[in-house]
Formats: sequence, structure tokens, C-alpha cells
Amino acid sequence: MDFEDVQRDWTRLGKDDPLWAVLIMPGTKDGRWDPGEFLATGRIEVDAALAHLRSVGGPASFDRILDFGSGAGRLSQALAAHGSVTGVDISAPMIETARSLDPRGTCEFVLNTRPDLSLFDDASFDLVYSSLVLQHMPEHVGTVFLEEMCRVLRPGGALVIQVVSTPTLSIKGLAFRYAPRRLLGWAQTRLLSYPAPMHMQGYPDTKFARIVASSLDILDSETDETYGGHWVNRRHYAIKR
Ligand SMILES: C[S@@+](CC[C@H](N)C(=O)[O-])C[C@H]1O[C@@H](n2cnc3c(N)ncnc32)[C@H](O)[C@@H]1O
Repeated sequence: MDFEDVQRDWTRLGKDDPLWAVLIMPGTKDGRWDPGEFLATGRIEVDAALAHLRSVGGPASFDRILDFGSGAGRLSQALAAHGSVTGVDISAPMIETARSLDPRGTCEFVLNTRPDLSLFDDASFDLVYSSLVLQHMPEHVGTVFLEEMCRVLRPGGALVIQVVSTPTLSIKGLAFRYAPRRLLGWAQTRLLSYPAPMHMQGYPDTKFARIVASSLDILDSETDETYGGHWVNRRHYAIKR
């Protein structure tokens, strides 16, 4: 699986049912997310994460913010209360949805078709924020994007990122732990009616720390129970040296 496969799958997921594909919650499939409630989940997450960043010694204000993997703009719109936001995504239908949910144009949404962030200059953002994104790429693709998030941060800027670390011992967690990727993709599309497979890649803390070690200092890492029980969810707070 390569960057093009990730882009193909997320284009299908974004075309079919974008809000559900972003945040899979009971009763929200087939266009049943209420957009107001969907966007409210972003405000709850961002307000708590940025308060935590401040509490562990991170910056309190930002000029330019990058929302990496912005999807339907759930987090971008919440981040817009804290700075000027660019949301970047590889799925054209997700970008269209994000723009339609933000009619006042509070955020800029950019489609990226490259397997890197060369659209953006070095040291061009004060905050790079990302949730529910890195885990959906195979490790060799995700590693490049994580390094790129570090590159586009200015010295003193912050990275706040959610990633999954390891599957839990739930039934689905055990499937993610032991079943081959192709079988999982088959089950997602054939048994659970996903429009495309949703790849899952874990980043245990040691692996995450190794990838960012050359440019970031990690201030804190916390477990977040918000997003389902099949993986251990971690949010890392780091500063560019
Ligand atoms: C589960 S959604 C999360 C969206 C958003 N972060 C949120 O939490 O509301 C994952 C998003 O990541 C995007 N994505 C996946 N790989 C990406 C990449 N390499 N660069 C940018 N976006 C990517 C997908 O297209 C999709 O919109």
C-alpha cells in the first residue's frame, strides 16, 4: 500500500459519507451526522488539547496553524479561534465538504496530491495539529508525513498530534492485532459496508519518539479515551527545537 492507495481510499470514503468516515459513531452512517453536533466535537477536542499544551509549558498563541488531514474541517474550524488556519487533505471530496461546512471561509482548505508537504515552506507554521490521520497510512508513508510536519514548524512552534499506539484486547482490537491487512479490508468493505478499507497503523510511543527525535522535544503524551475502544489513543505535545 502506497500514498496513491491511501488517496484513492479516502477519496471514496469522502465521496460516499464524509462525516461518518471522519468520525464513526453509532447512528451516524448514511449522512445521519448532524453537522452542528459534528463540528461541536471538534471544539471540545481542540479546546482541551490547547489548554493541555499550555499547561505543560507550550505556547499559548499562534499566528499560522496547519490542520494536517483536515477532513471535513471539524478541527480546522475550532482551531480558527486560535489563529489563521490552513487545512490540508488528500481527498478532494473531503476538501469540498470542509468548504461547504465553512460558508464564511474562516479557514483555507488545500488539496495535496503529493506524497509530502512540499506545498508548504520550511518553518511556516506556529502550530501543526492533527487527529485521526497518521494511523490511516502505512508506516513508510506516515513516517514521511510526520517528518514533514516537523519541517514546516518554526522553531518554538508546537506539534499536537493524536495517533493510535497498540490495539486493545477488545474483539476488534484482537482482529487488528492478529488478522492480515487484506482480510481486515475485506471485512470492512463486505461485512461492515465501508465504501473503502480504512487502514490502521499503530505508532507506539517509542516509535513516534524515534521519528521526531531529531527536531522536536516531547513535552507530554496522554491517553485519550474519546475515540473508541479498539486502539489505545495517544496525544503527543511537542516543541520544535
Ligand atoms: C478520519 S479523517 C479525520 C479528519 C480530521 N482530522 C478530523 O479529525 O476531523 C482522516 C482524514 O485524513 C486524510 N488523510 C489521510 N492521509 C492523508 C495525508 N497523507 N495527508 C493529508 N490528509 C490525509 C483523509 O483524507 C481524511 O480526510
